[in-house]
Amino acid sequence: MATLPLRLDRSDPAPLPAQLAAQVRALVVAGTLTRGDRLPSSRALAADLGVSRAVTEQGYEQLLAEGWLETRRGDGTYVASGGLATGPAPAAVRPAARRPLVSLDTGTPWIDPRQTAGWRRAWREVSAATPPRGYDDPRGLRELREALADRLGRTRGVTVDPEEIVVTAGTGDALRQLLRVVPPGPIGIEDPGYRSAVMTAHDAGREVVDLPAARPITSLAGLAAAYVTPAHQHPLGRVMPAAERLELLAAARAADAVVIEDDYDSEFRYDVAPVPALASLDRERVAYVGTAAKTVAPALRLGWMVVPPALLGPLTERRTVTHDGASWPAQRALLTLLRDGWVDKVVRAARRTYAERAPRVAAALSPYAELAGPLAGMYSTWLMPQERAVAARDAALAAGFRLNLLSTYSRSSGLTGLVVGFGGVTDEELDRALTAVTRALAGDAPAPRDPARPAPRA
Ligand SMILES: Cc1ncc(COP(=O)(O)O)c(C=O)c1O
Repeated sequence: MATLPLRLDRSDPAPLPAQLAAQVRALVVAGTLTRGDRLPSSRALAADLGVSRAVTEQGYEQLLAEGWLETRRGDGTYVASGGLATGPAPAAVRPAARRPLVSLDTGTPWIDPRQTAGWRRAWREVSAATPPRGYDDPRGLRELREALADRLGRTRGVTVDPEEIVVTAGTGDALRQLLRVVPPGPIGIEDPGYRSAVMTAHDAGREVVDLPAARPITSLAGLAAAYVTPAHQHPLGRVMPAAERLELLAAARAADAVVIEDDYDSEFRYDVAPVPALASLDRERVAYVGTAAKTVAPALRLGWMVVPPALLGPLTERRTVTHDGASWPAQRALLTLLRDGWVDKVVRAARRTYAERAPRVAAALSPYAELAGPLAGMYSTWLMPQERAVAARDAALAAGFRLNLLSTYSRSSGLTGLVVGFGGVTDEELDRALTAVTRALAGDAPAPRDPARPAPRA
């Protein structure tokens, strides 16, 4: 029986049965479904898609009436083997009706849909405000830097003067700007690690040296800087223990290297309070990098950095000349979102959502793979052999979901597994993706024993 890579979208103005019919038509036109293929029963498909049976029945009825499908008495629904009875010719079906894949990535956050009023208010304020006449301060809007300094003190334990904060267009931008003023030399990056950081370092003409992501970093000899994610190692999820933090800072002092701390999703701890930032231990050595991508929206393209005193002067001087800076309307909107408590509210709601979803992912995957770090943030990483991870990734793809392999983040470490994001999906999408993944894993692994059932007799 064909499994159908369908995705129904409740926010789409087209009714759900019409969406279903359009997507099945497109599958037939594309040749994914061919004559004589048997379709799932309307009941099974409804359960799979998380919709009522009336939706799948109406969709099927429409396709039966158009001649795309046929029923065989007592034997289910098939792609029609004869010519089309009625309805549009295949050429009239737009392939665009096929839905894009749903991404279970590490980067898309869950934003509380009930907070749209505050979001709109912020942008109305932007439209009423007057932009600065010239290029303004290269570090960014003064009031925003004050609000960020306040938040960094409250949530990350970093005491900072707004004068030392530079507003950026996100983490990549921060890293690019820092690498322009960090002395020449190779950059150490965790392995496995953030691919964007590796690319940015290469683009800056820097040699990249692999640093262990799951073990203490004891030496930075010969390196100009080390890029690390101590609060939630990307992508293993590990929290750098206190003793390792001290060891890393000692290694940085010994090598006279800068530590670049990417603090991308540290606020999303749901078991304990977030671990204070590394920068709270040493402001001279550590360049702290934060982002609005997880707490507001990746599309805002805003972030901030707290620059070590020795680098701040050269960095701002360059920005004065190059006019590199963050867009004023976006900064102005973020200021209102912070001042109104919108960001705090959205973070609290997202934390609650992740706290519910992370154990669901763990319950589904723990019979088949080993969790790489504590449950935190908006994704979890599962260690397993590459063939099994690939099989699970492919099964998810066939069901309409994109998942990342751990191997895409690994360099010399060679670690393999599956990285499962759960921020950018609905609960129902997450359940469907997990069903596809666990079915694939169960296919070549001993099925997890159901404790409610007696063990089979030998
Ligand atoms: C490790 C890490 N750092 C930072 C970011 C955010 O990057 P940006 O601020 O450029 O959107 C992400 C997004 O997925 C990430 O995974």
